[in-house]
Formats: sequence, structure tokens, C-alpha cells
Amino acid sequence: MIRLCAFRRNKLQELENKFRGLEWAIDRGVFLFVRLPWAERLIGRVLAANAGILLESLETLEKQRLMKVGMIRSSFGTQALMVTSVVLALLETFAASSPAVAQEKPAASRPIPAIVEQHGRFALMVDGAPYLELGMQANNSSAWPAYLDKVWPAAERLHANTVELPIYWEQLEETQGKFDFSVVDLILKQAREHHVRLVLLWFGTWKNGSSHYTPEWIKADQGKYPFVVGKDGKTVDSPSPFSPERPEADKTAFRTLMRHLKQADPERTVILVQVENESGEWGGVRDYGPEAEKAFTGQVPSALAKGLGKQAGTWSQVFGEDADETFMAWYIATYIEQVAAAGKQEYGLPLYVNAALRDPFHPGKAPGYESGAPTDNNIDLWKIAAPSISVVAPDIYMAEYAKYMKAMELYKRNNNALLIPETGNTEAFARYVFAAIGQGAIGWAPFGLDLTRYSNQTSGPEAMEADALKPVAAQFELLAPIARKLAAGNLAGMVRGASEDPDEHTQTLDFDRWQVVLEYGMPSFGNWMKPKGNTPPDGGAVILELGSDEYLVAGHHVRVDFKPTFAPGKKRLWMSVEEGSYDAAGKWKMARVWNGDQTDYGLNLKADENLLLKVKLTTY
Ligand code: DGJ
Repeated sequence: MIRLCAFRRNKLQELENKFRGLEWAIDRGVFLFVRLPWAERLIGRVLAANAGILLESLETLEKQRLMKVGMIRSSFGTQALMVTSVVLALLETFAASSPAVAQEKPAASRPIPAIVEQHGRFALMVDGAPYLELGMQANNSSAWPAYLDKVWPAAERLHANTVELPIYWEQLEETQGKFDFSVVDLILKQAREHHVRLVLLWFGTWKNGSSHYTPEWIKADQGKYPFVVGKDGKTVDSPSPFSPERPEADKTAFRTLMRHLKQADPERTVILVQVENESGEWGGVRDYGPEAEKAFTGQVPSALAKGLGKQAGTWSQVFGEDADETFMAWYIATYIEQVAAAGKQEYGLPLYVNAALRDPFHPGKAPGYESGAPTDNNIDLWKIAAPSISVVAPDIYMAEYAKYMKAMELYKRNNNALLIPETGNTEAFARYVFAAIGQGAIGWAPFGLDLTRYSNQTSGPEAMEADALKPVAAQFELLAPIARKLAAGNLAGMVRGASEDPDEHTQTLDFDRWQVVLEYGMPSFGNWMKPKGNTPPDGGAVILELGSDEYLVAGHHVRVDFKPTFAPGKKRLWMSVEEGSYDAAGKWKMARVWNGDQTDYGLNLKADENLLLKVKLTTY
């Protein structure tokens, strides 16, 4: 539990004076606290008023050995509880004044990973602190014992902190009712040995709209476990959500898997579970089997009609030309809800579904895209139908800048954390990690970057060699050391980021007082030329606000500068620019100070260097 270390009384007084009137800071995220000796009582109140998030923050601080300060000023006016808070950077300032209190938590007492929301911003909490998934997804057939040694070295080369691996229903329950956890257990063990977290993908009823991962005893009994029937009466290679037996079988399997994880993973190696994979139907818009037909003539369930603000009626009356697709989405989503709820009841890990996307600008109509899937037009429906699913996540395989940005915009919602569990694995995609983080993503993972040499590109290399990992590895190497800070910063609204747009060589990012200006294709020396862009456009940056005039800058192939928007007519003056790194306890270690040519023309970050810059600003 939480332990507090107090400062001497006069130090407390000094802190209290310093932070008087900083109520805004609580809005930006984070920290507390408590005027001793009422510490515990006030923590209780704070938690009650803030639904648990502050407890997580406490644990963050504790974990990062920054839990030094006990100081709170509280007032109980007509408003809710107001707490004067202290920002992390300021805590760091005082870190030396008191002994550290953090202890490595025993595995069994680690909190279950959770997704928390604050003012429409999200964090994936792992070990009680915000966590940014810098992930990789292995190829579909790589999660077999004989091939796992092609996965972990890839994660290491990539500097990934998380590996996404499928769990195959056909392996887990080869014989109905008999569960074989040997592969799951091996994956857990090897992930821990390789110091990565896991996102497990339940390849159950749906895999890319089909059902190819179901065990043979299901495939062999198509009477009991029917396929979708197309409009023309022909069988479609997609599982029908209308069989009563199929969801029961899937629920049993998923529930058993989650029960096993609960007891096999007190270390919380598994941080997220994906339920099914790109569920939906390809090759048709809906099921026309007898059960489906009966349901289609019935009324739209009132939860859906009400939830979407529609009048009651049949599917055709309520949804018109979108009736078939919406109908299919509802029945797939409610099926998956049953599976998810059964698993979540056993073990409350955060669950998500992933979507094969429609074109974000010219979507057309299903079946031009996967029908019934969690596509952007059906996110609201999925939220209503599947409350056990925490996140509806886009698999972004569109390399064009505008489409990538739009896809993120469509899935980033006040009620939906942005999580990109699959994205393209070529050089063109690598830079998008910066924009994804800038949009508050809790995770970003290119697909198919293991060392099995499989290539999922339709035009490109026949075999992916180790060099194919390099573009993503370069970004993760830069970002991995600050991943936790970025995740905490994102929850607090203190992160911005961008990826190079091939058509606009200057981008701006707005903080409260400063605008960050990013220019692509500039030399390191000189400011009298116009940015011409990089070839290929591989630049990007993330900026983390550490204090009101203090920022952490990380990027590749970009020039970074700042403009004081709070002081019209004034110009930016570097107070200091430090190059450095964070030590294991999260404390900044300066390596050198940049000045002269290194700062006169902005901060020029090269494509092949991994530099962190801590920038303090003023004006003249
Ligand atoms: C998206 C799917 O979710 C993945 O499992 C995989 O099939 C990729 N497409 C393509 O390689």
C-alpha cells in the first residue's frame, strides 16, 4: 500500500506556498497531496471523489521512486473536493530531499492491468502506472513452440516492450472439453524471460471474417456450427452468429483461457486480450440462413434503437439501406459480447476488438469492406452491444498520410481509447508511431515483424529479412526509454506528436503557451532556406510538456523550434537545451548542453540518432 514520506514542517510550508493556487494541475493529470498527519483520511476522500485514478497516480510515483512528497491543501466549497496538486517535474526537483520509498511489488499483488480515462484521455495502466505499448505482432502462424524463437529476438531487435501473439482455439481445445495450456504457458514463460509484456489474440470464432481457427470438431459439424448463408443461398466462408451452439462453445473456451491466465499470470505479463480477430463477414453483407431471416423481420432491439437515438421498428424501417449491415454488426457484436463477458468474469483484463477498416474518405458500402465489423460507422453500435469490450481498435494498413490521420481520428473518441494493434510493417509506416502517440494512443504495433521471413506484402519482398525490422526498430529505440513518461503525459494531456506529411513540410503543434514548429528536409545549419521535405518522408517527433516552459523533445529527421504564443511580438530564447537520458529511477542525466550552431537554427534531429533533449524556454 501507499506509504508517505513527509518533509519537515518548514519544507511543507515552503511547498504549500509555492503551489498555492495551482488547482489547474489536477486537471492536467496527476498528483496529490496530503498534509500530514491526516494523510490516509484525505487519500480516502480523494479516491472517492476521483474514482480511483489518483490511486494509480500514487502507485506511479511510488514505482518511479518519486513518492517523496506529502502535501495537500484541500477545500470543501460548494464545488466538489478541490485538491492542490503538484506536477511530476516539480516532484523531481525535491527528489533528493527525502528517502525513496518504492519497493518492487511481489508478483501476486500487482494490480490487474486496466484502461483508465480522464477527461477523454486514456492510459493503459500496467503495474499501476501508465504504459505505452510499443509492440509488434507476430505472423499468424508464429505462435507455435517450434517458431517462438523467431519471435523473441525480433522483439529485442525492435526494442519492442510488448509482443502480440495469437492463441489458437484449434490448439487450445483440440478435443472438445480438453484444454491444453502448454503453449500458453510456454509463451508466458518465454515472454518473461525476454522481458516483454504480452497482448494475446483470441483466434476463436472469427479470424479475418472466417472461422479457420476453430477446432476440427467444430469444422466437421456444420449442422451444429453453421456458416453464413449468402443472398444466393450459397455458403459463405464465415461463421454464422445465429447458431446457439457456437457461442456456447466459444464462451467455454475463452472463459477457460481467462481462468487459466488469472492463475498462471500473477506477474501480469499479459496486459490486454483481443477477442476474436477482425470479426465480420467478407463476401456478403449479412446472413440469410433461416434463423437470421427470422430475426431480420423482427424489431430492432430497443437497447440499440434507443442507444442510437432511433425510433422503434424493424431493421429495414430503422436503418433503411444500411439495414443488412447494421443487422449483421449487431448480431456479431452481441455474440462477441457474450464471449468477452464470460472471459472477463473470470479475469478482468481489458479486452478489445480489432477492425479491418473501410476507406476513411470513400467508404462505399459493404461488402466493399468487411460487413458487420467494428468499422468506423459501427463504433457506436459496438459500444452499445459489447460493454465488456474496452476498446474498438483500428488495424491501419493505409500508408497514405491523410488516410492514416483520418483513421486515427475516427477511432479516437471520448469513450474509446486509441489503440493501433496492427499496422503496416514497411518503412512508410514506421514514422506514424509519432503521430499515434501525439493522438494519445495507448499502443501501436506493426504486424508481421518476426524472423520467420514471411512477407504479407502484395508487392514487395518475397521474404522479410532481418533488415525489414530496421525502420520500426529505429523509432522504438528512441521512444522505449521514455515510453512510460509519454503514457503518463498523454493521460495528463501533456504530449503532442506528428509524423511527416509528404505534402506539407512544416507542421505545428500547440501547447498552452508555446507552439512547436516542425520542419522537414532542412540542413542542420542555416535558416534562410525553405523546408523541402525528406525523401522518403520519414520524419516525426513527440514533445512532452514537463513544466510550463519546459519540454522534452524526441524525434527523427526533423527540425524542432518553439514560438511563444502567450507573448505576441516576443521571440523564443533558449534558456537551456540539454541532451541527456533518464536513469533507471527516472531521473534526468544531462550529457551536454546544446548551444551555438546546435541551437541557432532550431534543434536538428537526425534520422539515425536517438537523442532526447530537455528544453527550457523564455522570451526576449
Ligand atoms: C489483418 C489480420 O488481422 C492479421 O491477422 C493478418 O491477416 C493481416 N491482416 C495480414 O497479414
